[in-house]
Amino acid sequence: MKQYEKKDIKNDEIKNENEEKKNSTLQTYIENYGCQMNLFDNEIVASLLLDKGFSITENLEKANIILINTCSIREKAESTLKNRLQNLKYLKKNKKNPPLFGILGCLSKQIKKLDQENIIDFSISPDSYRKISDIIIRLINENKNQKKDSKIFSLHKENETYSDITPYQFWNKNRKNKKVTAFLSITRGCDNMCTFCVVPFTRGRERSSDPNLILKECKILYEKGYKEVTLLGQNVDSYLWGGRDFLKKQILKKENKNFIDFSILLDLLAKKIPSMRIRFSTSNPHDMSEKVIEIISKHSNICNHIHLPVQSGSNKILKLMNRKYTRESYISLIKKIREKIPECSISHDIMTGFCHENEKDHQETISLMNNIKYNYGYMFSYSHRPGTYAYRKFQDNVPENVKKRRLKEIIHLQRTHSIFQMKKYIGKIQEVLIEGESKKNHQDWWYGRNTQNIGVVFPKESFIVGDLVHVQIINYTSSTLIGRGIKIK
Ligand code: 5AD
Ligand code: SF4
Repeated sequence: MKQYEKKDIKNDEIKNENEEKKNSTLQTYIENYGCQMNLFDNEIVASLLLDKGFSITENLEKANIILINTCSIREKAESTLKNRLQNLKYLKKNKKNPPLFGILGCLSKQIKKLDQENIIDFSISPDSYRKISDIIIRLINENKNQKKDSKIFSLHKENETYSDITPYQFWNKNRKNKKVTAFLSITRGCDNMCTFCVVPFTRGRERSSDPNLILKECKILYEKGYKEVTLLGQNVDSYLWGGRDFLKKQILKKENKNFIDFSILLDLLAKKIPSMRIRFSTSNPHDMSEKVIEIISKHSNICNHIHLPVQSGSNKILKLMNRKYTRESYISLIKKIREKIPECSISHDIMTGFCHENEKDHQETISLMNNIKYNYGYMFSYSHRPGTYAYRKFQDNVPENVKKRRLKEIIHLQRTHSIFQMKKYIGKIQEVLIEGESKKNHQDWWYGRNTQNIGVVFPKESFIVGDLVHVQIINYTSSTLIGRGIKIK
């Protein structure tokens, strides 16, 4: 059982025993596209299925149920899904007992349009995962009776947070490689309504998870051997929990608070689990408070990295995007961060070619990047998404070749800034949590990250996964530091 509220656990267990036995031959394979939130959701889904006795497999060919968790943020995500379905259709057509195909995530509602191969049996939107086992069982029974029809299940529950479900147990027990880092969602949905973004439509209104459960879950993770947790939300800085209900609960009563914002939550987690590394993503520049910066600087176990998407350096474009901050306020926020946390790394998301972006706007983005010299960033060319405000009200009027050229320019510039920042690490000693083997030399080298979220590789020697190692940096590429482990903490 992976759920906290165990009041009726005995009855449930007896009731479910037969059902679980029946389901135990059903192997589920889960494939992921998109963001960290989708990765986290996969673990929720896996947990919900395991609770009902389903098995999880990492072997696609063996699976009775194939789930694909989808992303809809850019148009490319749709073509990726279409291609994947094309590649997978042999499983449906060639097998005697073909698997059920289910689509999860942000593209779930558009599946009728995207399923050109006609192989999808069902799709479930991000707030409806609790229904997954019922849906699968129903479809299996219907298939036996030859009543097949593709179905969409979408609830949009405004208060769904899944915070009562522990998503991790399965993964650590069954994965080939031990995992030492975990994701934990603290908010779901988004109320920010950036004009280019589909998230408020696919993931619904913003809601925060109960801080008591977040703390409890982090403690469980720590006890299970996890050394680092990344708190996830589309906009973590707008985390907010309050009201009479939570005051009655044990853990926070002692804190004597009548509301919990993101800074209080961070402070609480850092204090209560001092040996756990804490990261968070994503921050919205409009909502990030000085209190949050203060708390990061106060606790050595809160990592010194902030992902602060800017999207554009032009005030005109920021306004059209409804980003609610200006170039100037963004730069002054970074100044504050660097004053308080001098070692803090800063990363960004930037989009090129948003509606009405001209060459002057693009140059403003370039000058902002030159001003800040980010450690790294994620860069995209704008894609007009149906349903968004921009899609309805603005013209997608920057030609594709111009978007691409601008994108190439900012990617090139970011590379030079990354190298500039990486150089500074030469000779320094970094505290690195070993997560696994280096992709390039998995036999002899470990891979981990320093507090600034920069990847570090170094010889394995006698270290093991999960060790916090002091690594002296001797070389670098634009994305990875190369060093030598000198001491286990
Ligand atoms: N087109 C291109 N990129 C987008 N993003 C969000 N919506 C779009 C879009 N319509 C980018 C933003 C955001 C990141 C997660 O994806 O930069 O921060
Ligand atoms: Fe989308 Fe803006 Fe919300 Fe981020 S903050 S998820 S870009 S609407």
